[in-house]
Amino acid sequence: MKALVTGGAGFIGSHLVDRLLREGYDVRILDNLEPRVHPRGKPSWVPGEAEFVRGDVRDLEVMRRALDGIQVVFHEAAYQDYMPDFSKFFHVNSVSTAAILELILERTRSGAGIGAGVEKVVVASSQAVYGEGQYCCRNLDCPRHGQPTAAPGRSEEQLRRGVWDLICAACGRPMTNLPLREAYHNPRNAYAISKLAQELAAVHLGQLHGIPTVALRYSIVQGPRQSLYNQYSGVCRIFCMRLLNDQPPIIYEDGLQKRDYTHIKDVVEANMTVLKEVRADYRVFNVGSGREITVRDYAVKLAEKMGKAITPMIPGSYRVGDNRHSVSDVSRLRELGWQPAFGLDRIFDDYLSWLDTQGNPATYLQQAEAAMRAQGVIRQVENSQG
Ligand SMILES: NC(=O)c1ccc[n+]([C@@H]2O[C@H](COP(=O)([O-])OP(=O)(O)OC[C@H]3O[C@@H](n4cnc5c(N)ncnc54)[C@H](O)[C@@H]3O)[C@@H](O)[C@H]2O)c1
Repeated sequence: MKALVTGGAGFIGSHLVDRLLREGYDVRILDNLEPRVHPRGKPSWVPGEAEFVRGDVRDLEVMRRALDGIQVVFHEAAYQDYMPDFSKFFHVNSVSTAAILELILERTRSGAGIGAGVEKVVVASSQAVYGEGQYCCRNLDCPRHGQPTAAPGRSEEQLRRGVWDLICAACGRPMTNLPLREAYHNPRNAYAISKLAQELAAVHLGQLHGIPTVALRYSIVQGPRQSLYNQYSGVCRIFCMRLLNDQPPIIYEDGLQKRDYTHIKDVVEANMTVLKEVRADYRVFNVGSGREITVRDYAVKLAEKMGKAITPMIPGSYRVGDNRHSVSDVSRLRELGWQPAFGLDRIFDDYLSWLDTQGNPATYLQQAEAAMRAQGVIRQVENSQG
């Protein structure tokens, strides 16, 4: 069996490549080595046993060649950022997915034959498609008590005042978040909208034309090989860098945002589960840790793990477009036999051991933060300092 992994030089793609090789697949990687992710070129973890094609998923001819002789596709390449170059999100994330299906269909129709065709396409979507998710007012006196509400994005004016919670339109009290379930979506930024378009293209066009496809909505994925350089990057990397330099992690909003952080091994396992499981076809699945934690608790636990007596700093900054709470319900994927096996402790252990081998890239981190401030992506509440 031959597998194509787009974005196979990146964080998640490269772990998938390793797993596929271990399972006996021939693997082809298609990756353009995006300079914002790989400023030092091809990473050393790209294995010699895999065929490496440097190319862009936006190039139809490159994609056509990359799909030649392939039975399974994992589409991990993506443009992920907070930058305002909106059309790039759609070209890289959504149009490329439509192109994969178009090219598979072209192959099947040109006589390559179904048997020789692609048997499964798994696309990497994101928890971002939920946007602010669904909330519910728990105030017993409220006429909307207990009713799920699709949360509108928080206004800039609200964030400027440092009001972080979603407020009930009926009674004006803070609302409680509900677990994110697959039937729902409410994307609020270019990345998230492009990921939803990617899912819809994969699952619906796949079903229409009998090409088994699955979309996986990853929560925040963590582990070794997360890019040390790009601006949209893991909180683990950013907090680690600060702590390694004996500086407090800087937390946006009030630190009480709830998240779920997933170990890379659980994500790879989820991909292998839906690859082999016919019941997964034409469906969307959350892939998360099944546990929630606040960003502040996360930072405290990380500092403890690193043996640093440093308290996180909460200066009142916020990031435009961030969601208040994001915690996925993973019961749909559990029904297929998958379950998250690794918690935060293991995430920290594995990431820190890897970071030890990487030198100190604090300079790059500072440059990334400065660029985001310059672009207006990170802003400050009106009455705070710093
Ligand atoms: N890491 C997370 O927490 C997370 C969460 C939700 C969803 N995802 C999704 O998972 C997938 C993998 O993410 P990751 O964290 O491994 O990202 P990454 O940036 O580490 O890897 C992406 C890879 O894609 C390549 N790439 C980017 N643009 C390309 C293009 N136009 N043509 C070819 N290759 C291109 C990059 O060079 C990189 O090697 C993405 O689709 C992402 O949207 C990731």
